[in-house]
Amino acid sequence: MDASSPAGPTRIVLYGASGHAAAVADAVSTCPGFDLVGFLDDAAAPRPGDPPFLEPFLGGREQLPALREAGVRHAFVAIGNCAVRLRLASMLAAEGFDLVTVVHARAVVAAGASVGPGSVVMAGAVVGARSCVGAGAIINTCASIDHDCRVGDCVHLCPGVHLAGTVVVGPRTTLGIGAVVSNNLSIGSDTIVGAGAAVVTDLPSGVVAYGVPARAMRPAG
Ligand SMILES: CC(C)(COP(=O)(O)OP(=O)(O)OC[C@H]1O[C@@H](n2cnc3c(N)ncnc32)[C@H](O)[C@@H]1OP(=O)(O)O)[C@@H](O)C(=O)NCCC(=O)NCCS
Repeated sequence: MDASSPAGPTRIVLYGASGHAAAVADAVSTCPGFDLVGFLDDAAAPRPGDPPFLEPFLGGREQLPALREAGVRHAFVAIGNCAVRLRLASMLAAEGFDLVTVVHARAVVAAGASVGPGSVVMAGAVVGARSCVGAGAIINTCASIDHDCRVGDCVHLCPGVHLAGTVVVGPRTTLGIGAVVSNNLSIGSDTIVGAGAAVVTDLPSGVVAYGVPARAMRPAG
């Protein structure tokens, strides 16, 4: 998304400095309207086994007042865990930061489709005609959403997920890598759909479902 203005690119900070943040930073780098000033994480160092923090690493939330003073008013939460993402989004709003929408230059968002604040649409992904994606969602690499879908806040469509037309996905639901959903179906909130699942019937809220065809196997959480 080109967020440029006569005043120049919008300066943003990414909250998160690890793997998902690297993918978001790559998407941001394709958007001439954004100037990425650096990465924040409240952990002092990466967790064991994780790669080094992305650079420039600025520190934790204690840096927010200084960033605001320096004129940075926009942020993005680049953390895969939905509960953490929601918490940090609220915290950033309380600290006076607006969340931006990041759409990779090689993603497609149809005219008339919408993507909410704090959401990212990664490389190769498609948001089809008249579909809406809520706030804080992740539409990951090469996922596709066909026409007239409603994808709720904080939903994660993992790489290669395909939603046919007129599908509804409730808030905070995750669809695992390569899952497919047939047309006119509804998936509830806080549900996890397993990798490679074929969803051919509605799925309720709060379950773990997987398989071909996908069936609800147990409560989530
Ligand atoms: C569905 C999922 C959440 C279940 O996780 P879990 O509850 O820890 O499940 P387990 O690993 O204990 O497996 C339980 C059983 O379900 C089977 N199973 C797990 N996931 C499955 C899937 N996606 N499709 C088919 N069967 C699956 C396992 O083989 C196992 O079978 P068994 O009891 O006969 O041995 C998980 O396997 C999954 O698919 N996560 C998505 C990961 C993903 O997409 N990551 C990408 C991030 S970008």
